[in-house]
Amino acid sequence: MKKRKLILDCDPGHDDAIAIMLAGNHPDLELLGLTIEAGNQTLEKTGRNALNVCQYLGIDVPVALGASRPLVRDLQIAEDIHGESGLDGFDFPEPQKTFEARHAVNFIIDTLLKSEERVTLVTTGPMTNVALAMRLEPRILEKIEEVVLMGGSYGYGNVSPAAEFNILVDPEAAHIVFTSGLKVSMMGLDVTRKVLALPKVVERMEKIDNKASRLFADLMRAFNENQRKVFGLQGGPLHDPVTIAYLLEPDLLTMQHVHCEIDLSHGISHGRTNCDVFDYLKRKRNAYVAVDIDAARFWDFIERGLRRYNG
Ligand code: BDR
Ligand code: CA
Repeated sequence: MKKRKLILDCDPGHDDAIAIMLAGNHPDLELLGLTIEAGNQTLEKTGRNALNVCQYLGIDVPVALGASRPLVRDLQIAEDIHGESGLDGFDFPEPQKTFEARHAVNFIIDTLLKSEERVTLVTTGPMTNVALAMRLEPRILEKIEEVVLMGGSYGYGNVSPAAEFNILVDPEAAHIVFTSGLKVSMMGLDVTRKVLALPKVVERMEKIDNKASRLFADLMRAFNENQRKVFGLQGGPLHDPVTIAYLLEPDLLTMQHVHCEIDLSHGISHGRTNCDVFDYLKRKRNAYVAVDIDAARFWDFIERGLRRYNG
């Protein structure tokens, strides 16, 4: 089988770290690089976390630093969920790995323009880097196979009544992506809230007893503690890895093709992904939105991903 080429744009982040782990050594994927932005924490911290995860797991791909703030709005971080470091719960050794010399936006543009095949962009943070790349060099659009994103919700939000974190942080960037004309596949809270890393899941994965499972278990315990404090959940939604599950096992997800518009106002619903699931507006359908997930099979997928690491 031909490997699917992807760039993972992220803001690690506990669940981003697991997405990196799953994409980093899968035989059917060719991870061309990680592009990093501010989101869960400042760029300095999300960048360092990305290097740490790659070095610890032996994932040898370029890690390029990108946007340190959203396009228009002030940066809002998620320290209550991801902690002071952005990846609390695991002690990494000092990183030896260094950043890619190019800015993330230039890395995306160069990589896409020189690729003979189309590349999938997976985003698990605010979409600032991808939006900037699309505006700076529109010729990349024809090189993009699909944008697969974790973000949004057709139901309720997690940082406001209406909005999900990644979209709320940079709604203007999300607008650029959703109106790009590309295939956009959205893994929102509606499905990620169905895959909770409950204590029984953490115990199951910990039994694998390799470096990936140890990282998973330590990170998920810290993540769950914060999810309990903030949302009263015993297990946090494993949001970002749903993107990688969708790439590799799309039938885990039920998708609906809808019209989706981002609320760009500065009112109470800003950052909401307005998904016209009943097609009230009869507008052009621009997004495939995940409406259901097979949670049991998702955890089997995660287990196989962790087992792929030795040592
Ligand atoms: C999203 O926000 C971040 O805190 C997580 O990493 C995930 O990408 C969930 O709303
Ligand atoms: Ca994230």
